[in-house]
Amino acid sequence: MEVLIRRAEEGDVNEIAELEAVCFKGEDPWSAGAFYNEIVENHDQTLYLVAVIDGRIVGYMGVWRILDEGHITNVAVDPEFRRNHIGEAIIQEMIRLTSEGGTQSWTLEVRVDNEAAIKLYEKMGFKAAGIRPKYYEYDGTDALIMWKGKEL
Ligand SMILES: CC(C)(COP(=O)(O)OP(=O)(O)OC[C@H]1O[C@@H](n2cnc3c(N)ncnc32)[C@H](O)[C@@H]1OP(=O)(O)O)[C@@H](O)C(=O)NCCC(=O)NCCS
Repeated sequence: MEVLIRRAEEGDVNEIAELEAVCFKGEDPWSAGAFYNEIVENHDQTLYLVAVIDGRIVGYMGVWRILDEGHITNVAVDPEFRRNHIGEAIIQEMIRLTSEGGTQSWTLEVRVDNEAAIKLYEKMGFKAAGIRPKYYEYDGTDALIMWKGKEL
């Protein structure tokens, strides 16, 4: 199974939004318009990557570059392709590319009950740094704040 990881383009927006709707069903998924803003309108501040197998997008992630920090907005892998180290590969590539551009630390919020994602981020060197109470407005769940590359 060959996985290609590349920068997302305007033509990927609808396919990413379709995958988002599957991966975040019931969790306030982002619309195609939101991804368009991120990938096209805010191209200079963001980096969006997709993982592609046989021409099909099976994973994506996004990050905002703010000074020397990377703020991760979303990471998701198609349910049919999970546990194949695709999530890990996309994050690794994002870290490599943003490091080259001067990013020194990375942060994200994750639902406190999202064990798969927390385990993935821990494996990638992220550490828990606090809680944002009721961060997810659609059901009032807290977010765990995680950082990599920063003294906590
Ligand atoms: C979280 C998510 C992106 C992981 O993607 P993935 O490609 O399946 O993850 P990987 O195969 O790269 O996993 C890497 C490591 O993460 C951990 N991990 C991933 N999924 C896990 C699970 N279901 N349970 C426990 N650990 C898990 C493991 O340590 C794994 O390493 P290992 O396989 O050597 O044990 C995927 O489950 C997903 O899309 N979830 C829904 C969307 C979401 O919640 N995104 C995060 C929002 S903050």
